[in-house]
Amino acid sequence: MSTNTPAPTVEDKFSFGLWTVAYGGRDPFGDATRAPMDPVYALERLAGIGAMGVNFHDDDLIPFGSDEATREQIIARWKQGLSDTGIVVTTATTNLFTHPVFKEGALTANDRDVRRFALRKVMRNIDLAAELGAKTYVCWGGREGAESGAAKDVAAALDRYREGFDLLGEYVTDRGYDIRFAIEPKPNEPRGDILLPTIGHALAFITTLDKPELVGVNPEIGHEEMAGLNAAHGYAQAMWQGKLYHIDLNGQNGPKFDQDLRFGAGNVRGAFWVVDTLLAGGYDGPVHFDFKTARTEDDEGVWVAAEACMTNYLILREKSRAFRADPEVQAALEVAKVPELSVPSLAEGEGWAELLESSPVDVEALAARGSGLERLDQLALEYLYGVRSA
Ligand code: GCO
Ligand code: MN
Ligand code: MN
Repeated sequence: MSTNTPAPTVEDKFSFGLWTVAYGGRDPFGDATRAPMDPVYALERLAGIGAMGVNFHDDDLIPFGSDEATREQIIARWKQGLSDTGIVVTTATTNLFTHPVFKEGALTANDRDVRRFALRKVMRNIDLAAELGAKTYVCWGGREGAESGAAKDVAAALDRYREGFDLLGEYVTDRGYDIRFAIEPKPNEPRGDILLPTIGHALAFITTLDKPELVGVNPEIGHEEMAGLNAAHGYAQAMWQGKLYHIDLNGQNGPKFDQDLRFGAGNVRGAFWVVDTLLAGGYDGPVHFDFKTARTEDDEGVWVAAEACMTNYLILREKSRAFRADPEVQAALEVAKVPELSVPSLAEGEGWAELLESSPVDVEALAARGSGLERLDQLALEYLYGVRSA
């Protein structure tokens, strides 16, 4: 028995969060099942499986509270590891959720001292991110939220969130850094309800900022599915608005706790349409995975899972391309009038007056016309099920 799966190359731009492969398996009910992972070992193994990039939280690399000398030592060793392996820092982010100081929030904590501390923590890691060449800075506000109604004045929290992003935008501009921010939405977990819970909320929030061009989104498949949403549609809208600055690919089985499954596991059909959507929209940033290897696995299992994220992406990419190139699919798309949606509803020079004057349609005939969507979807499924191929 053999499988014919493509091998990843650096051109595929696959990247992983340091915290993903280093996840030791701790969950709310159990301790870690794997030993802490040395960050340089992670780089070596990532290079070994064909990844191009890495993303990290400040505390993934430099344990919280390290003194200056230790920090410098860790950074020097990390830089050496990057140059030895050729792995690129595409992205960086701040841990504003693990330390108990952030239990009630970070950039939107009720306590002003916490907010000021959080902003300083972000700026400090932005300096490192810029030094290492990261172009994107992810902001996931896992603790920005509440479990109960009176706990959070949402309008005030959004004012503070906006103040935070305005300040950080000013910071990167003043420092001359070539860095853009990507907000990562999530509906809940660890907070009962998190602010900016979906792609749509984040996109609307960004329009209120002083420098909206510096801020986009980093949608995670699992987070959109936790909210019961169609992740592919969210990615499509983010691209349509020129705001898909980064992606977190993983797997999820419907609305429940954040499973962070390896990409391609969980909702397979949803994963196919996400890949198809990214290809159609011309997304060309890092193809980034944010997953957690199940705590049942040992270190080798981690690398099996990491490699599987890339393999599954390549499989789905091949299937999407074959689907789109298939003459039967193209004919089915025509029957379904999908290309017609790109034709504006009004003709050149036509306005509402001309539209009102135009000849009436046969509404009953229009209503009786089938849309042909079942055939189209079945063709996609046959590619997914592997019974139809290029
Ligand atoms: C999650 C989140 C986090 C963030 C990451 C970046 O699973 O809830 O994905 O993993 O992406 O911490 O800050
Ligand atoms: Mn997640
Ligand atoms: Mn994520």
